[in-house]
Amino acid sequence: MPNKDTGHSTGHLIIGGCDTLDLAMRFGTPLHVLDEMRIRSACRAYRQAASAHFGPLARVVYASKALCTTAVLRIVASEGLGVDVVSGGELHTALCARVRPADIVFHGNNKTPRELAEALSAGVGRIVVDNEEELTRLASLCAEHGTETDILLRIKPGVSAHTHEYVRTGAIDSKFGVALETGEAERLLIRAASVPGIRLRGIHCHIGSQIFGPDSFVEAARIMTGFMADLSERDGILLTELNLGGGYGVRYVDEDTPDAPEDVFRPVAASIREICENRAFPFPAICLEPGRAIVAEAGTTLYTAGSVKHIPGVRTYVAVDGGMFENPRYALYGSAYEIVRADDPNAVRTDPVTIAGKCCESGDLIQEHIPMPPLGTGDILAVMSTGAYHYSMASNYNRNARPAVVLCREGRAVEIVRRESYEDLVRNDCIPEGL
Ligand code: LLP
Repeated sequence: MPNKDTGHSTGHLIIGGCDTLDLAMRFGTPLHVLDEMRIRSACRAYRQAASAHFGPLARVVYASKALCTTAVLRIVASEGLGVDVVSGGELHTALCARVRPADIVFHGNNKTPRELAEALSAGVGRIVVDNEEELTRLASLCAEHGTETDILLRIKPGVSAHTHEYVRTGAIDSKFGVALETGEAERLLIRAASVPGIRLRGIHCHIGSQIFGPDSFVEAARIMTGFMADLSERDGILLTELNLGGGYGVRYVDEDTPDAPEDVFRPVAASIREICENRAFPFPAICLEPGRAIVAEAGTTLYTAGSVKHIPGVRTYVAVDGGMFENPRYALYGSAYEIVRADDPNAVRTDPVTIAGKCCESGDLIQEHIPMPPLGTGDILAVMSTGAYHYSMASNYNRNARPAVVLCREGRAVEIVRRESYEDLVRNDCIPEGL
Protein backbone atom coordinates (compact mmCIF):
# COMPACT_ATOMS: atom_id res chain seq x y z
CA MET A 1 0.00 0.00 0.00
CA PRO A 2 1.31 3.46 -0.80
CA ASN A 3 3.06 5.32 1.98
CA LYS A 4 1.57 3.57 5.00
CA ASP A 5 4.64 3.92 7.21
CA THR A 6 3.82 4.44 10.83
CA GLY A 7 5.91 6.00 13.56
CA HIS A 8 7.38 3.41 15.91
CA SER A 9 6.39 5.20 19.08
CA THR A 10 3.22 6.97 18.00
CA GLY A 11 1.69 4.64 15.42
CA HIS A 12 0.79 7.76 13.37
CA LEU A 13 1.06 7.87 9.59
CA ILE A 14 4.55 9.03 8.61
CA ILE A 15 5.46 10.58 5.25
CA GLY A 16 9.07 11.29 4.35
CA GLY A 17 9.97 10.98 8.02
CA CYS A 18 7.30 13.53 9.05
CA ASP A 19 4.40 12.78 11.38
CA THR A 20 1.21 13.64 9.50
CA LEU A 21 -0.57 14.87 12.63
CA ASP A 22 2.25 17.39 13.14
CA LEU A 23 2.00 18.41 9.47
CA ALA A 24 -1.74 18.97 9.81
CA MET A 25 -1.20 21.08 12.89
CA ARG A 26 1.68 23.09 11.45
CA PHE A 27 0.37 23.74 7.93
CA GLY A 28 -3.40 23.29 8.39
CA THR A 29 -5.73 21.14 6.31
CA PRO A 30 -6.60 20.29 3.63
CA LEU A 31 -2.96 19.72 2.86
CA HIS A 32 -1.19 18.01 -0.03
CA VAL A 33 1.86 16.18 1.24
CA LEU A 34 4.60 14.89 -1.07
CA ASP A 35 7.32 12.40 -0.24
CA GLU A 36 10.34 13.74 -2.14
CA MET A 37 12.25 10.45 -2.18
CA ARG A 38 9.32 8.60 -3.71
CA ILE A 39 9.27 11.09 -6.60
CA ARG A 40 13.01 10.71 -7.03
CA SER A 41 12.93 6.93 -6.92
CA ALA A 42 10.11 6.80 -9.50
CA CYS A 43 12.18 9.08 -11.78
CA ARG A 44 15.19 6.80 -11.35
CA ALA A 45 13.20 3.62 -11.96
CA TYR A 46 11.78 4.98 -15.24
CA ARG A 47 15.11 6.35 -16.42
CA GLN A 48 17.04 3.20 -15.64
CA ALA A 49 14.44 0.93 -17.23
CA ALA A 50 14.28 3.17 -20.31
CA SER A 51 18.01 3.13 -20.93
CA ALA A 52 18.27 -0.59 -20.12
CA HIS A 53 15.64 -1.52 -22.69
CA PHE A 54 15.70 1.25 -25.29
CA GLY A 55 19.38 2.16 -25.16
CA PRO A 56 21.34 5.34 -24.49
CA LEU A 57 19.21 7.55 -26.76
CA ALA A 58 16.06 6.89 -24.72
CA ARG A 59 14.50 9.90 -22.99
CA VAL A 60 12.04 10.07 -20.13
CA VAL A 61 9.96 13.20 -20.09
CA TYR A 62 7.70 13.95 -17.10
CA ALA A 63 4.13 14.82 -18.11
CA SER A 64 3.80 17.89 -15.93
CA LYS A 65 -0.01 18.01 -16.19
CA ALA A 66 0.05 15.42 -13.39
CA LEU A 67 1.50 17.99 -10.96
CA CYS A 68 3.11 21.17 -12.18
CA THR A 69 4.88 23.31 -9.61
CA THR A 70 8.34 24.84 -9.90
CA ALA A 71 9.76 22.70 -7.06
CA VAL A 72 8.39 19.46 -8.52
CA LEU A 73 9.82 20.32 -11.94
CA ARG A 74 13.17 21.14 -10.30
CA ILE A 75 13.17 17.69 -8.71
CA VAL A 76 12.34 15.78 -11.90
CA ALA A 77 14.82 17.82 -13.95
CA SER A 78 17.53 17.16 -11.36
CA GLU A 79 16.84 13.45 -11.89
CA GLY A 80 17.58 13.86 -15.59
CA LEU A 81 14.02 13.84 -16.90
CA GLY A 82 12.70 16.24 -19.49
CA VAL A 83 9.33 17.96 -19.04
CA ASP A 84 6.21 17.68 -21.19
CA VAL A 85 4.04 20.80 -21.16
CA VAL A 86 0.62 21.40 -22.69
CA SER A 87 0.05 25.09 -22.17
CA GLY A 88 1.84 28.41 -21.96
CA GLY A 89 1.34 28.21 -18.18
CA GLU A 90 3.08 24.85 -17.87
CA LEU A 91 5.84 26.10 -20.18
CA HIS A 92 6.28 29.20 -18.03
CA THR A 93 6.45 27.03 -14.89
CA ALA A 94 9.10 24.81 -16.49
CA LEU A 95 11.15 27.85 -17.48
CA CYS A 96 10.81 29.30 -13.96
CA ALA A 97 12.04 25.93 -12.65
CA ARG A 98 15.05 26.39 -14.95
CA VAL A 99 14.32 23.25 -16.95
CA ARG A 100 16.57 23.40 -20.02
CA PRO A 101 14.38 24.48 -22.96
CA ALA A 102 15.91 21.71 -25.09
CA ASP A 103 14.46 19.20 -22.59
CA ILE A 104 10.91 20.50 -22.97
CA VAL A 105 8.31 18.80 -25.17
CA PHE A 106 5.30 20.97 -26.07
CA HIS A 107 1.97 19.16 -26.53
CA GLY A 108 -1.65 20.13 -27.01
CA ASN A 109 -4.52 19.63 -29.43
CA ASN A 110 -5.19 23.35 -29.78
CA LYS A 111 -2.09 25.33 -29.00
CA THR A 112 -2.86 29.00 -29.42
CA PRO A 113 -0.78 31.16 -31.76
CA ARG A 114 0.60 32.84 -28.65
CA GLU A 115 1.60 29.52 -27.08
CA LEU A 116 3.30 28.42 -30.29
CA ALA A 117 5.21 31.70 -30.44
CA GLU A 118 6.23 31.28 -26.79
CA ALA A 119 7.44 27.74 -27.49
CA LEU A 120 9.53 29.03 -30.41
CA SER A 121 11.01 31.92 -28.44
CA ALA A 122 11.87 29.61 -25.56
CA GLY A 123 13.49 27.19 -27.99
CA VAL A 124 11.70 24.08 -26.70
CA GLY A 125 13.26 20.79 -27.76
CA ARG A 126 10.21 19.34 -29.53
CA ILE A 127 6.82 20.63 -30.54
CA VAL A 128 4.34 17.79 -30.98
CA VAL A 129 2.17 18.96 -33.87
CA ASP A 130 -1.44 17.83 -33.51
CA ASN A 131 -3.00 18.60 -36.89
CA GLU A 132 -2.55 20.17 -40.31
CA GLU A 133 -3.76 23.62 -39.36
CA GLU A 134 -1.21 23.72 -36.57
CA LEU A 135 1.56 22.68 -38.94
CA THR A 136 0.65 25.56 -41.25
CA ARG A 137 0.51 28.03 -38.38
CA LEU A 138 3.80 26.82 -36.95
CA ALA A 139 5.53 27.08 -40.32
CA SER A 140 4.41 30.67 -40.76
CA LEU A 141 5.46 31.56 -37.20
CA CYS A 142 8.89 30.05 -37.91
CA ALA A 143 9.17 32.26 -40.99
CA GLU A 144 8.08 35.31 -38.98
CA HIS A 145 10.56 34.56 -36.17
CA GLY A 146 13.31 33.63 -38.62
CA THR A 147 13.74 30.32 -36.84
CA GLU A 148 13.38 26.57 -37.31
CA THR A 149 11.90 24.00 -34.97
CA ASP A 150 12.01 20.25 -34.37
CA ILE A 151 8.66 18.53 -34.43
CA LEU A 152 6.95 15.21 -33.91
CA LEU A 153 3.50 14.50 -35.31
CA ARG A 154 0.85 13.17 -32.92
CA ILE A 155 -0.82 10.06 -34.27
CA LYS A 156 -3.84 8.04 -33.16
CA PRO A 157 -2.59 4.52 -33.58
CA GLY A 158 -6.10 3.06 -33.36
CA VAL A 159 -5.43 1.28 -30.07
CA SER A 160 -8.22 1.26 -27.52
CA ALA A 161 -6.60 0.95 -24.11
CA HIS A 162 -8.50 -0.77 -21.30
CA THR A 163 -9.07 2.20 -19.04
CA HIS A 164 -11.73 4.81 -18.19
CA GLU A 165 -13.20 6.22 -21.42
CA TYR A 166 -12.45 9.82 -20.35
CA VAL A 167 -8.71 9.09 -20.28
CA ARG A 168 -8.51 6.99 -23.48
CA THR A 169 -6.83 8.87 -26.27
CA GLY A 170 -5.48 6.50 -28.89
CA ALA A 171 -8.63 5.58 -30.83
CA ILE A 172 -9.96 7.10 -34.06
CA ASP A 173 -12.63 9.27 -32.43
CA SER A 174 -10.10 10.93 -30.10
CA LYS A 175 -9.72 14.70 -30.36
CA PHE A 176 -5.93 14.31 -30.23
CA GLY A 177 -3.73 13.84 -33.28
CA VAL A 178 -4.27 12.54 -36.78
CA ALA A 179 -5.54 9.14 -37.89
CA LEU A 180 -3.35 6.41 -39.20
CA GLU A 181 -5.84 4.15 -40.95
CA THR A 182 -7.34 6.87 -43.17
CA GLY A 183 -3.98 7.91 -44.61
CA GLU A 184 -4.26 11.34 -42.92
CA ALA A 185 -1.03 10.84 -40.93
CA GLU A 186 0.98 9.78 -43.96
CA ARG A 187 -0.23 12.71 -46.08
CA LEU A 188 0.63 15.18 -43.35
CA LEU A 189 4.07 13.68 -42.74
CA ILE A 190 4.90 13.89 -46.46
CA ARG A 191 3.95 17.54 -46.32
CA ALA A 192 5.77 18.21 -43.03
CA ALA A 193 8.96 16.70 -44.44
CA SER A 194 9.25 19.52 -46.95
CA VAL A 195 7.89 22.55 -45.09
CA PRO A 196 10.56 25.24 -44.61
CA GLY A 197 11.34 25.90 -40.96
CA ILE A 198 10.01 22.51 -39.85
CA ARG A 199 12.49 19.76 -38.97
CA LEU A 200 10.43 16.58 -38.87
CA ARG A 201 12.02 14.19 -36.35
CA GLY A 202 9.42 11.54 -35.62
CA ILE A 203 5.99 10.59 -34.42
CA HIS A 204 4.15 10.47 -31.10
CA CYS A 205 1.23 8.58 -29.63
CA HIS A 206 -0.40 8.41 -26.21
CA ILE A 207 -3.05 5.74 -25.85
CA GLY A 208 -4.53 6.63 -22.48
CA SER A 209 -3.88 6.75 -18.78
CA GLN A 210 -3.91 4.43 -15.73
CA ILE A 211 -3.25 1.38 -17.93
CA PHE A 212 -2.16 -1.95 -16.47
CA GLY A 213 -0.25 -4.68 -18.26
CA PRO A 214 2.05 -4.21 -21.25
CA ASP A 215 -0.35 -5.37 -24.00
CA SER A 216 -1.82 -2.04 -25.16
CA PHE A 217 1.64 -0.42 -25.06
CA VAL A 218 3.14 -3.26 -27.09
CA GLU A 219 0.32 -2.99 -29.63
CA ALA A 220 0.80 0.78 -29.98
CA ALA A 221 4.59 0.43 -30.33
CA ARG A 222 4.14 -2.28 -32.96
CA ILE A 223 1.75 -0.15 -35.02
CA MET A 224 3.87 2.99 -34.73
CA THR A 225 7.15 1.27 -35.62
CA GLY A 226 5.54 -0.54 -38.54
CA PHE A 227 4.24 2.79 -39.77
CA MET A 228 7.72 4.36 -39.51
CA ALA A 229 9.06 1.51 -41.65
CA ASP A 230 6.18 1.97 -44.17
CA LEU A 231 6.94 5.64 -44.43
CA SER A 232 10.59 4.97 -45.09
CA GLU A 233 9.86 2.32 -47.74
CA ARG A 234 6.92 4.02 -49.45
CA ASP A 235 7.82 7.68 -49.16
CA GLY A 236 11.55 7.76 -48.49
CA ILE A 237 10.99 9.59 -45.19
CA LEU A 238 13.30 8.31 -42.47
CA LEU A 239 12.03 9.23 -39.02
CA THR A 240 14.42 8.68 -36.15
CA GLU A 241 12.27 9.36 -33.07
CA LEU A 242 9.31 7.55 -31.56
CA ASN A 243 7.55 9.06 -28.55
CA LEU A 244 5.19 6.53 -26.98
CA GLY A 245 3.52 8.85 -24.45
CA GLY A 246 2.68 7.90 -20.88
CA GLY A 247 -0.20 6.09 -19.23
CA TYR A 248 1.46 3.69 -16.76
CA GLY A 249 -0.95 2.65 -14.03
CA VAL A 250 -0.40 3.26 -10.32
CA ARG A 251 -1.81 1.85 -7.09
CA TYR A 252 -4.73 3.73 -5.57
CA VAL A 253 -6.20 0.68 -3.82
CA ASP A 254 -4.98 -2.85 -3.18
CA GLU A 255 -6.74 -4.22 -6.27
CA ASP A 256 -4.56 -2.04 -8.53
CA THR A 257 -1.51 -3.93 -9.73
CA PRO A 258 0.99 -1.51 -11.26
CA ASP A 259 3.75 -2.89 -13.45
CA ALA A 260 7.40 -2.16 -12.82
CA PRO A 261 8.59 0.01 -15.74
CA GLU A 262 10.94 -2.72 -16.96
CA ASP A 263 8.02 -5.16 -17.22
CA VAL A 264 6.37 -2.84 -19.73
CA PHE A 265 9.50 -1.59 -21.50
CA ARG A 266 11.01 -5.06 -22.04
CA PRO A 267 8.18 -6.40 -24.25
CA VAL A 268 7.70 -2.99 -25.91
CA ALA A 269 11.40 -2.87 -26.84
CA ALA A 270 11.29 -6.47 -28.06
CA SER A 271 8.39 -5.73 -30.41
CA ILE A 272 10.09 -2.61 -31.79
CA ARG A 273 13.35 -4.49 -32.27
CA GLU A 274 11.64 -7.33 -34.10
CA ILE A 275 10.00 -4.97 -36.58
CA CYS A 276 13.23 -3.03 -37.07
CA GLU A 277 15.16 -6.24 -37.77
CA ASN A 278 12.54 -7.68 -40.11
CA ARG A 279 12.27 -4.50 -42.12
CA ALA A 280 15.86 -3.30 -41.90
CA PHE A 281 14.72 -0.12 -40.19
CA PRO A 282 17.05 1.61 -37.71
CA PHE A 283 15.95 1.35 -34.05
CA PRO A 284 14.51 4.79 -33.23
CA ALA A 285 15.29 7.03 -30.26
CA ILE A 286 12.45 6.30 -27.85
CA CYS A 287 10.80 8.88 -25.61
CA LEU A 288 8.44 7.98 -22.74
CA GLU A 289 6.15 10.42 -20.94
CA PRO A 290 5.04 9.12 -17.54
CA GLY A 291 3.10 11.62 -15.43
CA ARG A 292 0.99 9.79 -12.85
CA ALA A 293 3.61 7.10 -12.28
CA ILE A 294 6.15 9.72 -11.19
CA VAL A 295 4.05 11.54 -8.59
CA ALA A 296 0.79 9.75 -7.72
CA GLU A 297 1.96 7.45 -4.96
CA ALA A 298 4.27 10.11 -3.53
CA GLY A 299 1.24 12.24 -2.62
CA THR A 300 -1.23 12.11 0.26
CA THR A 301 -4.00 14.54 1.13
CA LEU A 302 -4.71 15.32 4.77
CA TYR A 303 -8.16 16.48 5.83
CA THR A 304 -9.84 17.30 9.10
CA ALA A 305 -13.18 15.61 9.65
CA GLY A 306 -15.97 18.07 10.45
CA SER A 307 -19.63 17.17 10.62
CA VAL A 308 -20.65 13.55 10.94
CA LYS A 309 -24.21 12.82 9.82
CA HIS A 310 -25.88 9.46 10.50
CA ILE A 311 -28.92 8.89 8.34
CA PRO A 312 -30.44 5.77 9.88
CA GLY A 313 -30.91 2.97 7.39
CA VAL A 314 -29.27 5.05 4.64
CA ARG A 315 -25.66 6.00 5.25
CA THR A 316 -23.26 7.99 7.38
CA TYR A 317 -21.59 11.03 5.93
CA VAL A 318 -18.29 12.24 7.30
CA ALA A 319 -17.60 15.66 5.82
CA VAL A 320 -14.03 16.89 5.43
CA ASP A 321 -12.61 20.37 4.88
CA GLY A 322 -11.64 19.67 1.24
CA GLY A 323 -13.67 18.26 -1.60
CA MET A 324 -14.12 18.41 -5.35
CA PHE A 325 -12.37 21.79 -5.52
CA GLU A 326 -9.08 20.07 -4.72
CA ASN A 327 -9.93 16.46 -5.59
CA PRO A 328 -12.43 16.29 -8.46
CA ARG A 329 -11.52 12.72 -9.41
CA TYR A 330 -14.33 10.86 -7.65
CA ALA A 331 -16.88 13.26 -9.12
CA LEU A 332 -15.31 12.95 -12.58
CA TYR A 333 -14.27 9.32 -12.80
CA GLY A 334 -15.64 7.55 -9.72
CA SER A 335 -12.03 6.88 -8.71
CA ALA A 336 -11.30 4.55 -5.80
CA TYR A 337 -8.98 5.56 -2.94
CA GLU A 338 -7.65 4.16 0.25
CA ILE A 339 -8.41 6.44 3.17
CA VAL A 340 -6.94 6.02 6.64
CA ARG A 341 -7.14 7.75 9.98
CA ALA A 342 -3.76 9.44 10.24
CA ASP A 343 -3.39 8.77 13.98
CA ASP A 344 -3.76 5.02 13.42
CA PRO A 345 -3.63 3.94 9.76
CA ASN A 346 -4.01 0.28 10.64
CA ALA A 347 -7.04 0.74 12.91
CA VAL A 348 -9.71 -1.90 12.42
CA ARG A 349 -12.33 -0.81 9.91
CA THR A 350 -15.79 -1.30 11.27
CA ASP A 351 -18.29 1.12 9.77
CA PRO A 352 -19.12 1.86 6.13
CA VAL A 353 -19.11 5.61 5.62
CA THR A 354 -19.22 8.14 2.82
CA ILE A 355 -16.52 10.78 2.93
CA ALA A 356 -18.00 14.01 1.60
CA GLY A 357 -16.44 17.32 0.66
CA LYS A 358 -17.60 20.79 1.67
CA CYS A 359 -18.78 22.07 -1.72
CA CYS A 360 -22.42 22.87 -2.42
CA GLU A 361 -22.99 19.82 -4.62
CA SER A 362 -24.42 16.43 -3.68
CA GLY A 363 -21.86 14.83 -5.98
CA ASP A 364 -19.00 16.37 -4.02
CA LEU A 365 -17.78 13.12 -2.51
CA ILE A 366 -14.31 11.74 -1.96
CA GLN A 367 -15.41 8.12 -1.56
CA GLU A 368 -18.67 6.29 -0.88
CA HIS A 369 -19.54 3.33 1.34
CA ILE A 370 -16.02 2.50 2.44
CA PRO A 371 -15.32 0.70 5.70
CA MET A 372 -13.53 3.01 8.15
CA PRO A 373 -12.61 2.88 11.81
CA PRO A 374 -14.87 4.98 14.07
CA LEU A 375 -14.55 8.64 13.02
CA GLY A 376 -15.35 11.80 14.87
CA THR A 377 -15.09 15.52 14.40
CA GLY A 378 -11.46 16.65 14.48
CA ASP A 379 -9.95 13.38 13.25
CA ILE A 380 -7.27 13.76 10.59
CA LEU A 381 -7.95 11.63 7.51
CA ALA A 382 -5.34 10.76 4.94
CA VAL A 383 -6.31 9.96 1.36
CA MET A 384 -3.50 8.00 -0.26
CA SER A 385 -2.00 8.29 -3.76
CA THR A 386 -3.14 11.82 -4.50
CA GLY A 387 0.09 13.16 -5.99
CA ALA A 388 -1.14 13.14 -9.61
CA TYR A 389 -4.09 15.01 -11.10
CA HIS A 390 -5.26 16.41 -7.78
CA TYR A 391 -3.51 19.70 -7.11
CA SER A 392 -3.13 20.17 -10.86
CA MET A 393 -6.90 19.81 -11.35
CA ALA A 394 -7.87 21.92 -8.33
CA SER A 395 -10.17 24.92 -8.71
CA ASN A 396 -11.61 27.65 -6.53
CA TYR A 397 -15.17 26.34 -6.72
CA ASN A 398 -17.29 27.95 -4.01
CA ARG A 399 -14.33 30.30 -3.54
CA ASN A 400 -12.50 27.68 -1.60
CA ALA A 401 -8.79 28.44 -1.39
CA ARG A 402 -6.46 25.87 -2.88
CA PRO A 403 -4.48 24.00 -0.22
CA ALA A 404 -0.77 24.23 0.44
CA VAL A 405 1.61 21.60 -0.93
CA VAL A 406 4.44 20.47 1.33
CA LEU A 407 7.46 18.38 0.46
CA CYS A 408 8.78 15.97 3.06
CA ARG A 409 12.19 14.40 3.24
CA GLU A 410 14.08 12.87 6.14
CA GLY A 411 11.78 14.38 8.71
CA ARG A 412 11.89 17.90 7.25
CA ALA A 413 8.80 19.48 5.69
CA VAL A 414 8.92 22.54 3.44
CA GLU A 415 6.13 24.37 1.72
CA ILE A 416 6.44 24.25 -2.08
CA VAL A 417 3.12 25.90 -2.80
CA ARG A 418 1.58 28.25 -0.28
CA ARG A 419 -2.06 27.91 0.72
CA GLU A 420 -4.15 30.48 -1.11
CA SER A 421 -5.48 33.35 0.95
CA TYR A 422 -8.82 35.15 0.68
CA GLU A 423 -6.79 38.00 -0.81
CA ASP A 424 -5.59 35.62 -3.55
CA LEU A 425 -9.20 34.74 -4.29
CA VAL A 426 -10.17 38.31 -5.13
CA ARG A 427 -6.83 39.34 -6.64
CA ASN A 428 -8.06 39.37 -10.24
CA ASP A 429 -11.55 40.70 -9.55
CA CYS A 430 -12.20 44.18 -10.86
CA ILE A 431 -14.89 46.61 -9.84
CA PRO A 432 -15.59 48.87 -12.83
CA GLU A 433 -15.96 52.54 -12.04
CA GLY A 434 -19.46 53.50 -11.10
CA LEU A 435 -20.47 50.04 -9.89
N1 LLP B 1 1.62 12.30 -22.58
C1 LLP B 1 0.48 12.82 -23.08
C2 LLP B 1 0.48 13.35 -24.44
C3 LLP B 1 -0.68 12.86 -22.29
O1 LLP B 1 -1.79 13.37 -22.80
C4 LLP B 1 -0.64 12.37 -20.96
C5 LLP B 1 -1.83 12.42 -20.10
C6 LLP B 1 0.57 11.84 -20.49
C7 LLP B 1 1.68 11.82 -21.32
C8 LLP B 1 0.73 11.31 -19.08
O2 LLP B 1 -0.12 10.26 -18.80
P1 LLP B 1 0.04 9.48 -17.40
O3 LLP B 1 1.39 8.82 -17.40
O4 LLP B 1 -0.07 10.50 -16.34
O5 LLP B 1 -1.10 8.53 -17.39
N2 LLP B 1 -6.97 13.72 -15.34
C9 LLP B 1 -6.91 12.29 -15.60
C10 LLP B 1 -5.68 11.91 -16.40
C11 LLP B 1 -5.57 12.62 -17.73
C12 LLP B 1 -4.31 12.26 -18.49
C13 LLP B 1 -4.12 13.14 -19.67
N3 LLP B 1 -2.95 12.92 -20.44
C14 LLP B 1 -6.97 11.56 -14.26
O6 LLP B 1 -7.05 12.21 -13.22
O7 LLP B 1 -6.97 10.34 -14.22
